[in-house]
Amino acid sequence: MTRRALKLFSGSAHPALAKAVADRLGIPVGLSRTVRFSNENLKVCLDESVRDADVFVLQPSCPPVSDGLVELLIMLDALRGASAGRITAVMPYFPYVRSDKKDEPRVSIAARLMADLVTTAGADRAICLDLHSPQVQGFFRVPVDQLSAVPMLIAHVRAQGELGDLVVVAPDAGEVKDAARHARRLGVPLAILDKRRTGDDERARAVHLIGDVAGKRCLIVDDEISTGGTAIEAATHLVAAGAKSVSVAVVHGVLVSDAPARLAAAPLAEVIVTDSLPVPEPKRGPRTTVLSIAPLLAEAIQRVHEGRSLADVGGPDALGRV
Ligand code: R5P
Repeated sequence: MTRRALKLFSGSAHPALAKAVADRLGIPVGLSRTVRFSNENLKVCLDESVRDADVFVLQPSCPPVSDGLVELLIMLDALRGASAGRITAVMPYFPYVRSDKKDEPRVSIAARLMADLVTTAGADRAICLDLHSPQVQGFFRVPVDQLSAVPMLIAHVRAQGELGDLVVVAPDAGEVKDAARHARRLGVPLAILDKRRTGDDERARAVHLIGDVAGKRCLIVDDEISTGGTAIEAATHLVAAGAKSVSVAVVHGVLVSDAPARLAAAPLAEVIVTDSLPVPEPKRGPRTTVLSIAPLLAEAIQRVHEGRSLADVGGPDALGRV
């Protein structure tokens, strides 16, 4: 039996990541064009045959978010119409991922709607990375592989030397489970911050600290930095509690508006992010480290293509994120 050809296409969101993944897979990025008409409608043209191919489409959600989403949907639909054999949407940063619950009356669980849209448009399966909450996988009616880049972030910290005085910090209640696991794997203590937000207010406030950080190096681990408010507030609170230094390691560097400048001015020794989203030079501060997820994605794509298990993709530490 001949295996379907492996193809990787990219939307406009993050072509550099698509190229890095394709290079590792030893294939070119599929030929496609997105045309924007004067009425702002988009057209996606696939410039090569995809008939019966095993096609992966890489498109993280980043500004302009709505355009990127529509481009992805049109691309999936074009692939289906062009008789692709199997279509996998690769969304390292999932659209509307933080809208994953109905936490006030009469609001949409928009992340579920996004899953519906992607599936309706033609995706037979999806690959995601460090979803805001793991249950977002359940919003899909097709198979989803959720990868984690946190082991990569942890490996980076481990490679910096002795962990003797390190404390892993969960910046809010939502991160406690994950942070506890990372602390256990590193063999270091855990501290927990109690963060509060009011309504749609993007300003986070750290109100209580559980754990001893005096004289310690703190490592805040989180899924994303958006406004930077959570990380800055946590760092300020930890320094006031006597921490020797504070670094933050997050998977998704959303880094909206003036977040890079505010992070640069914060008491943070290092800001570690991945390239799940583009992190152009102006978004990188003097103490920003960007780690590439291209090897992780390429490995996952290769295994999905070959029908192999993804259980230990990213190393044995990647197991069991929930
Ligand atoms: C919140 O629940 C998330 O885990 C992050 O802490 C949050 O998204 C970070 O956002 P910001 O940088 O705007 O505080």
